[in-house]
Amino acid sequence: MAGILTRSNMLSNTCRLAARSLFMSSRNSQSTPAEDKPDIRNITIIGAGLMGSGIAQVAAQNDFNVVLVDEEDEYLQKAEVAIRKSLDRVAKKKFPDEPKGSSKFVDDTMSKIKRQLYPGKGAENADLVIEAITENMAAKHKLFKEIDAAAPASCIFASNTSSLSITEIGSVTGRQDKFGGLHFFNPVPVMKLIEVIRTEHTSQATYDALFRFGEDLGKECVSCGDTPGFIVNRLLIPYMMDAIRMTERGEGTPEDVDTAMKLGAGYPMGPFELADYVGLDTTKFIIDGWHQMENENPLFKPSEKLDELVQQGKFGRKSGQGFYKYGK
Ligand SMILES: NC(=O)c1ccc[n+]([C@@H]2O[C@H](COP(=O)([O-])OP(=O)(O)OC[C@H]3O[C@@H](n4cnc5c(N)ncnc54)[C@H](O)[C@@H]3O)[C@@H](O)[C@H]2O)c1
Repeated sequence: MAGILTRSNMLSNTCRLAARSLFMSSRNSQSTPAEDKPDIRNITIIGAGLMGSGIAQVAAQNDFNVVLVDEEDEYLQKAEVAIRKSLDRVAKKKFPDEPKGSSKFVDDTMSKIKRQLYPGKGAENADLVIEAITENMAAKHKLFKEIDAAAPASCIFASNTSSLSITEIGSVTGRQDKFGGLHFFNPVPVMKLIEVIRTEHTSQATYDALFRFGEDLGKECVSCGDTPGFIVNRLLIPYMMDAIRMTERGEGTPEDVDTAMKLGAGYPMGPFELADYVGLDTTKFIIDGWHQMENENPLFKPSEKLDELVQQGKFGRKSGQGFYKYGK
């Protein structure tokens, strides 16, 4: 996924800069006056899985105070190990000949991350809460109700959902003006993009604060409306599904399609390699949800082949087999 995003070689640099300055000026023309800007220092991240641990690492690396929350202590411990390992890699590049500097950097960054088992307690002093729990609306509603009662009134809430409606997630809170989306990409420390999502209720001050927070993490932010899949997944998931349907019709093998898209379109990964990387279970979950929402839309039509692989537990890279087999 990383490659596709960074391969924006179709736009010349000039066009990109012009587009960016146009976008920035339209964004700034209605941005929040300095005195109304919320100051974000304390970040609470709920869900210490793949995404939450990556977000915690990047926030701590950029000097934010982080509380990382998970309902399972085992996941908090695993996250800590994963973050330290990832920071070790960063430190080796940052301080190639300075082992002392390197270990100080890792220890200092780790010291900014506190662990917590209870979401309400974790949100008590937060300026910004980022939710990165399992992709399930009922679970997200339950969590946001709980933290809405516990977090300071000024605290901003953001969800990292990939496919659910930000408006619907935020609807259970009494602070829909302070609710938006921050959609990070996996792996968070490596991927440069954040999609910043505003709903019709998100205030300008909240939106500006989310955007600026993303930039303070050293990421490139793009502005998105609250539509299924935002920008990246809305384009990628139908593309991957269409590739699967193409092979179902016998018009090419996964290998042929992947080779064609890499060599013919210049993509760094073919759609089947990409689907295996994203996870076939995740891909199925997203397409099924969108199909339920818009069952007449041919782009959101489910695939028997995908359903069959998921049924067999072939989820892609993470399970050792998807469209391709992977060595352990
Ligand atoms: N995996 C990706 O590539 C990706 C990319 C962008 C966004 N997302 C989104 O990010 C979110 C998290 O995805 P992930 O891949 O990190 O999932 P994950 O399964 O790796 O981690 C989820 C974590 O949330 C914890 N959790 C669940 N319910 C909780 C609760 N009520 N309170 C506290 N902790 C709770 C679980 O114990 C688990 O550790 C999802 O909404 C997903 O759609 C995922």
